[in-house]
Amino acid sequence: MSLWGGRFSQASDADLRALNDSIEFDHMLYAEDIEGSIVYARALADAGVITRAESESIIGGLRKVMREFDTDAFAFAEGDEDIHTAVERRLIEIIGDVGGKLHTGRSRNDQVATDFRLWSMRAADNLAGELRRLQAALVAVAEENCETVLPGFTHMQPAQPISAAHWLMSFFWMLERDLHRLRAARERMAECPLGSGALAGNPFPVDRQQIAADLGFERASENSLDAVSDRDFVADLLYVISLCAIHLSRLAEDILIYSNPAFGFITLDDRYSTGSSLMPQKRNADPMELMRGKTGRLIGNLTGFLTTLKGLPSGYNKDLQEDKEALIDSLETMYRLLPVITASVASLGINAEAMSAALSEDLLATDLADYLVKKGLPFRQAHHLVGAVVRIASEKGVNMSELSLDTLQGASSSFAEDVATVFDYRRSVEQRESFGGTAPAALRAQIERAKALLAR
Ligand code: ARG
Repeated sequence: MSLWGGRFSQASDADLRALNDSIEFDHMLYAEDIEGSIVYARALADAGVITRAESESIIGGLRKVMREFDTDAFAFAEGDEDIHTAVERRLIEIIGDVGGKLHTGRSRNDQVATDFRLWSMRAADNLAGELRRLQAALVAVAEENCETVLPGFTHMQPAQPISAAHWLMSFFWMLERDLHRLRAARERMAECPLGSGALAGNPFPVDRQQIAADLGFERASENSLDAVSDRDFVADLLYVISLCAIHLSRLAEDILIYSNPAFGFITLDDRYSTGSSLMPQKRNADPMELMRGKTGRLIGNLTGFLTTLKGLPSGYNKDLQEDKEALIDSLETMYRLLPVITASVASLGINAEAMSAALSEDLLATDLADYLVKKGLPFRQAHHLVGAVVRIASEKGVNMSELSLDTLQGASSSFAEDVATVFDYRRSVEQRESFGGTAPAALRAQIERAKALLAR
């Protein structure tokens, strides 16, 4: 039986119902829906709208419905349009007509807004837990590799030597920002719409602050018209997820490149690698390609839903029902990706020798310019002179360190015997000891700060 059949003389069309019904996906809101109803039944009794006995009976019936869902014993019926309809239908079957008093002053508009916020708050907490686990995996591998040196790139071209820990930790801080955004979204979300009615508010004296507190919200929403149609919290989460996925897509891209045999810097564990049906030698990093690929889908969920919101007139509109599939899909996608990405990172093989073999002296050109700066030359001049040294070495087909002191002094009289100390990758890395730099000492301090955040 539908909740709204009274004014119609004909049942709704089956195709319309297939389009309109949301039970297929909003059944996952059952716990939040029933919790909201239990608190609302109590609020109705507190306000003297129903008797304490009626409220107790409703709450007892709701607990039975909850148990049916928890044990997979709930039987959906024809006409269960959405989770709200299904729960109320079953409640009335169990406790009789008094169950029909539950919806007094309430609308599915404030109900669904409340359910979905509660559900999203819990989802935000789960997601935060997953991100923390990935951060911990990054820190663990980084800690082992403060002294491991590899070429760092800009524009995908060799730039300067960096530590492998530096590379790994860069993703820790991206995720830290994602967690900040998630917490901020969670804080904005914690506003309870229940008691807003369909749009105009509740004519019965229910205590909305009490309802909000009982459900674990921080506060009651201020404006009933806004509250029933506000889905900013969904857009917030879709954005946080998209940006987080973009960070992980970049990590995936690095892993794809570094695990290519031409680089060979890292090896993805067998458990997280895939093969080819035709080429026996293949060792593919499919999970990383899926991370990169699914990021497109996650951004699609965000832009799709923002487009849904654009241009909606005031009040609840059925377009808003699109909020659920978008967010469910994004969360499920993340819940599938994150454990695999975390385990791939935790089991990542770091090939220090291949990293070291890939170091080339051009990565030290900046250090050579810095050497001249220490001899008193303005950096701009030093940059130009070292450019000339790079060109001479390249023309002679040798490394810069193989040029004679005479040749170097031909470029600048500031070069002296001690120039030989510059051609040392470890020294280059160790010198970058400033806060946030790639030196092992700076990294150990960075890792300590990261661990303090993880311990919070
Ligand atoms: N299934 C609906 C949704 O998700 C519930 C709210 C329905 N409200 C209404 N007035 N038809 O948005």
